[in-house]
Amino acid sequence: MRLDRSIASQGAYTRSEIRKLIRAGRVTVDGAPVRDPGAAVDPENNVLAVDGKALNYREHLYLMLNKPKGVISATEDRSAKTVLDLVPPELFRKGLFPAGRLDGETTGFVLLTDDGEFAHRILSPGNHIMKTYIATLRDVPPDSQLQPLRDGIELRDGSHCLPAEVRILGDRTVEIKICEGKYHQIKRMFAAAGNRVLELERTAMGGLPLDPDLEPGKCRELTAEELDRITAR
Ligand code: URA
Repeated sequence: MRLDRSIASQGAYTRSEIRKLIRAGRVTVDGAPVRDPGAAVDPENNVLAVDGKALNYREHLYLMLNKPKGVISATEDRSAKTVLDLVPPELFRKGLFPAGRLDGETTGFVLLTDDGEFAHRILSPGNHIMKTYIATLRDVPPDSQLQPLRDGIELRDGSHCLPAEVRILGDRTVEIKICEGKYHQIKRMFAAAGNRVLELERTAMGGLPLDPDLEPGKCRELTAEELDRITAR
């Protein structure tokens, strides 16, 4: 890959900044300055550095965001704050998007990535990667209300949901796991069962729980081991 593209793909510098840095001899490849922006490099194996600081090259980026209320799961919006607005500049790169949306009032774990294949894999219902939510309900749910969710409930528009895993945590609090991502699915599932969701938080994706130390509005990069836990069985 070209030297300038390898650096640009990491998102920290604009193309014109990169050209200037390279021409000024401030970019090194395995310790030696390279002044040709088009020089061929292997960013996975060569050490690229700017002003002596090694670029931690990654082909793709995976961020865990703790989404607060009022932020929308879109890449851009004219007026509302989006999940991408919460990514600090040092973690930002072109192509980031939310792999699975939460509605505006729902809080919790949003995975941001620029890896479309991975996103598709974790979102395809056929791969059975469960997304875990904690729902606070208006009414104490009798078992007769939860069983249809476990069996695969029919929504009011006639569409069918795959069976959910449901566990009672408190009087009006339940943990629910689903592997699909229909529009407002959990809220519509409980509405179809005759209840109402008052608060909703996504607490895990696959086998990876939301980091309890990650404050609402903050995001951080996932480790390779954490990434594996999303898809681990
Ligand atoms: N179900 C909902 O109702 N909202 C979400 O954001 C996610 C699942």
